[in-house]
Amino acid sequence: PPVSLIGAPTDIGAGDRGALLGPDALRIAGLGAALAARGVDVADRGNLTGPRNPWQPPIDGYRHLPEVVAWNRAVMEAVGAELREGRLPILLGGDHCLGIGSITAVARHCRDTGKRLRVLWLDAHADFNTHDVTPSGNIHGMPVACLCGIGPDALTHLGGDAPALSPAQVRQVGIRSVDEGEKRLVKEHGLDVYDMRYIDEVGMKRTMEEALAGVDADTHLHVSFDVDFLDPSIAPGVGTTVPGGPNYREAQLVMEMIADSGRLGSLDIVELNPTLDTRNRTALLAVDLVESLFGKSTLMRD
Ligand code: ARG
Ligand code: MN
Ligand code: MN
Ligand code: MN
Repeated sequence: PPVSLIGAPTDIGAGDRGALLGPDALRIAGLGAALAARGVDVADRGNLTGPRNPWQPPIDGYRHLPEVVAWNRAVMEAVGAELREGRLPILLGGDHCLGIGSITAVARHCRDTGKRLRVLWLDAHADFNTHDVTPSGNIHGMPVACLCGIGPDALTHLGGDAPALSPAQVRQVGIRSVDEGEKRLVKEHGLDVYDMRYIDEVGMKRTMEEALAGVDADTHLHVSFDVDFLDPSIAPGVGTTVPGGPNYREAQLVMEMIADSGRLGSLDIVELNPTLDTRNRTALLAVDLVESLFGKSTLMRD
């Protein structure tokens, strides 16, 4: 399908400033041209607008909740509009709190069109915190919980009815940092987590086969790609680096196996922070990986 790039230049849910520069760093790294070179019909819708970052401490366990709601409403509307036109939206974050708006729109679209939804959450973190257990108050640590109906009404009910998602629709890959209280919630809600221990033991190929099992012609596959998924030695341009992530080869295989499924329907690229990067290398790597996600391979494949 044709692709639409949607920029959401904000770091409203993050613990470091700078992710608001992510959309332009990805454009400057050549994201649009790389997709066009693959024969993809791509339109850049430009950047959404929203409240500035007031950089305040948490209130009742949330930092910047009203501003996070405003940004996510804008994202939900923009992503929903592209889906209704039969296009594949790529949300350029921005921090990962924006996954709430993006995936709420995707979930609603799947309900309207009778598609099954599978969310692949590529991340170092489970992002399953609540205001009670968060160590930071940063809402980019809470989007999966919010989507599963656990969180403030303004975020869990963004699309009207809650929850947008059931944990059974989610597969998390690359996880290696889960906070103490968050661990209990992940277990309680039965999230399907392929953590780095699992990937070390069984390998990335089998991990991805399992994470993609059941994805069929009736499935809309949403990929939420937090750039901190990648090992920081290859992707330093993120605020919340965690050592021990997938290397270049493993990351390529993840993208290639998603491409082979043929079911990619929407994508978030989030948490890229150019102020922490070197010569835009993390954005360039993200573009390289997106090429694989859209079917680039060394040889002809059958
Ligand atoms: N778990 C930590 C927190 O709640 C870090 C979350 C990082 N999330 C992210 N999307 N990078 O603050
Ligand atoms: Mn993360
Ligand atoms: Mn509570
Ligand atoms: Mn994340």
